[in-house]
Amino acid sequence: MNQLQKMKKMLKIRVSVADSMVLVGIGLAASYWVLESIFNIFTTDDVNFFNQHLGPDINEIWPRIIVFCLFIFFGSHVQFTINNRKQAEEALVVSEEKYRNILQSIEEGYFEVDLNGQITFFNESACRMLGYSREELIGFNHRNLTTLETWRQAERIFADVLETGQSAYLSAYEVIHKNGSARILELNISRRNDREEQPIGFRIVSRDVTERLKDEREKLRLESQMHEARSATILGLAKLAEYRDEGTGTHLERMREYSRIIAEKMATMSKYGEYITPGFIEDIYRSAILHDIGKVGVPDAILLKPGELTKEEFEIIKTHAILGGDALEAIESQIEGKSFLTLGKEIAYYHHEKWDGSGYPEGLKGRQIPLSARMVALADVYDALTSKRFYKDAFTHERAKEIIVGLKGTHFDPEVVEAFLAAESQFDHIRREMQEESDDPIAELKKTALN
Ligand SMILES: [Fe+2]
Ligand SMILES: [Fe+2]
Repeated sequence: MNQLQKMKKMLKIRVSVADSMVLVGIGLAASYWVLESIFNIFTTDDVNFFNQHLGPDINEIWPRIIVFCLFIFFGSHVQFTINNRKQAEEALVVSEEKYRNILQSIEEGYFEVDLNGQITFFNESACRMLGYSREELIGFNHRNLTTLETWRQAERIFADVLETGQSAYLSAYEVIHKNGSARILELNISRRNDREEQPIGFRIVSRDVTERLKDEREKLRLESQMHEARSATILGLAKLAEYRDEGTGTHLERMREYSRIIAEKMATMSKYGEYITPGFIEDIYRSAILHDIGKVGVPDAILLKPGELTKEEFEIIKTHAILGGDALEAIESQIEGKSFLTLGKEIAYYHHEKWDGSGYPEGLKGRQIPLSARMVALADVYDALTSKRFYKDAFTHERAKEIIVGLKGTHFDPEVVEAFLAAESQFDHIRREMQEESDDPIAELKKTALN
């Protein structure tokens, strides 16, 4: 209960005590007069209770003094209370006037509505917001200012405010302007009570957020467009590197899906829960396709060599990991803060590292290998196994699974293999959904050249 309500309550008690005193006083005086009159009608003697019982005898002066004091005391109390009531009422009128003036000058639209929804008070901003004149708006039902669908959603909130007395906030409430256009308002709704604290309606403070929302939506649309364009550019660049030896297939598209599935599964493991955030998952999805970007730096004669590679040639092939990692690091250094390229760089450098330390380029072991690279390594190999190459047919999901499980703890991180096994049906689904219809022309060419 706020201070004003407390003051009002105290004043009310004092006023009712004073009113009771005045009524008792009037009642006693009237009874005295009526009794004396009745006695005077039915008797020949002149009846005067006052003179008879408290006659002019000087010894009887004390009761009169007591009565007089009591009269002064009660009288002053009554007078004081009446004055107080007058002052409080005047203050209330002044404060209400002030409050109304403030409401008229604020930018927000202000409405008071009764329990039936009829608008009983509003300010100038409310008129401007809705395009109606004062005369048109008074008595208008506020429910008719919105669409049926919006009201259906808002009705429950108004009912809650009425029931609980707690204010509510509505971030997007659609109203129809007089000119027929839809406007979006932000609303604060609170309950209005009478002096007995009984609900009599609602106070609604509104702000027109149509333009702001439009700007925000446009910003989001542009951001999403930029995001799409950036993703398409990255995929294009990654494909350029991939085309050189893998052809025009959808290896990259599939392996980023596999990488995401592994990341999502591992995020459910308690030890990785905090590290693998939704941002990490999004980044791994976007950057996994860059794992072999360094292949652009490997000469065609070696990368496209159909036969077996010599030891020296294989060493040159291996440099693609460092070439790719260095290229992404150079780009990353131009960007402030962390970006998906931070993961991209890790993946490019370390996707050929093996859990037992027998991989390249650094021969990292176990958890020395960044988690992102451990995940992508499995995704990459699964797709290579289940895809047709010029030198082999596509393995079935079951066969690929067997091979991967066989490499658990040597090539692959055992926990990544566990995540793969837990999500194997999703892998199989992606493999079927995104399977290539036929081999790409470059691979076919290689095959023909070999025969
Ligand atoms: Fe690679
Ligand atoms: Fe790959």
